[in-house]
Amino acid sequence: MSSITLIGTGNMARAIGTLAVAGGNTVEVMGRDQDKADDLAKALGGGATTGKWGAVPDGDIVITALLYAGVVPVVAEYGAALAGKVIVDISNPFNAAFDGLAHGEETSIAQEIAKVAPADTSVVKAFNTILRNVLEKGRPNVFLAGDDAQAKAAVAAFIESLGLRPLDVGALKMAPWLEGMGLVTVGLAGNGVGHGDFALGVDEFTG
Ligand SMILES: NC(=O)c1ccc[n+]([C@@H]2O[C@H](COP(=O)([O-])OP(=O)(O)OC[C@H]3O[C@@H](n4cnc5c(N)ncnc54)[C@H](OP(=O)(O)O)[C@@H]3O)[C@@H](O)[C@H]2O)c1
Repeated sequence: MSSITLIGTGNMARAIGTLAVAGGNTVEVMGRDQDKADDLAKALGGGATTGKWGAVPDGDIVITALLYAGVVPVVAEYGAALAGKVIVDISNPFNAAFDGLAHGEETSIAQEIAKVAPADTSVVKAFNTILRNVLEKGRPNVFLAGDDAQAKAAVAAFIESLGLRPLDVGALKMAPWLEGMGLVTVGLAGNGVGHGDFALGVDEFTG
């Protein structure tokens, strides 16, 4: 089982935290609002704890469950406290019209994290293509990207512990395209599918 720290106390932190506790993982919650962190840890149960904002996280895997504009500044603020950690970026940096990425297509929040995080951290992009409301339903694919095979294996094992299916799409330079898949998901919800109760998946045709 994994030890994870959720930085953030919103909807995705709650959804991932709930599955993490159910999967037998050790969970710590950190929030810029300590009361919200305490409330979420209590609601998650399963021995979930809270840490102080900016302190060294207990978890080996640190999930930044923050609105995209806050992710890179928060990782920079934590600085050396994140040394040696696997940082999982789940953000979707959508523009205001939800029809493009806020930062252009030549980078991603995950790649920008790697520039400000301590050198011995590993950054993995994951979870951003799944809408919160379907995380608990069925066995949606969790696409992930990163440069460090060991870090990706650790995140994949954590994803499996949640009852979900990890699908590695390659190196961290693939993260912009995962962010693009986030846009595709929202586009489908608003158009072809017409609702948000679905997840992008992979159909295999072997043999
Ligand atoms: N919701 C989904 O279906 C979904 C699906 C896939 C990916 N995502 C991604 O997951 C991330 C979290 O989404 P969410 O739905 O959980 O959002 P949310 O419910 O609005 O929660 C956002 C969290 O980010 C914190 N935050 C925002 N700006 C911050 C800053 N500058 N510094 C520190 N903390 C900050 C908030 O803290 P306060 O409460 O103190 O404001 C809150 O804990 C987003 O990047 C989103 O794109 C969401």
